[in-house]
Parts: sequence; C-alpha cells; structure tokens
Amino acid sequence: MKVEINFERCQGHGRCYDLAPGLFGEDEEGYGQVLGDGVVPPEEEQAARLAVSNCPERAIETL
Ligand code: F3S
Repeated sequence: MKVEINFERCQGHGRCYDLAPGLFGEDEEGYGQVLGDGVVPPEEEQAARLAVSNCPERAIETL
C-alpha cells in the first residue's frame, strides 16, 4: 500500500497529518505532504485508511 496526496484537491484541512503523523507532514502553508516515498508499512495501514476516509477533499489516494 502506498499513499499520495492529490495537490489539486488538498485544501490544507490537516486531518491527514493529525491522524497519521507517521505518514504525512505539512508544508509551510499547512497543506499535507507525504513523508518519504509514501509506502505504508503494515503497522501504519490502519492510520492510512483513517486519513483517507477523513480527508474532506478526498485528496488522499492509495495505490
Ligand atoms: Fe489536505 Fe486532506 Fe490532508 S485536504 S492537508 S490531504 S486532510
């Protein structure tokens, strides 16, 4: 599993990095950023799914 943020959709709601701080960070304007290469280790998969389902803009995509 891998996560990506669609930057055309992200509005900086910040749920991703609040709910899954091991996978997402924020840029200087509060928009979400994927940490590292976005590959989700098994122990972070639940957090990844939580972030996906809580992004109001549906900006987080999984591969
Ligand atoms: Fe952006 Fe959604 Fe995170 S709008 S900051 S990807 S919760």
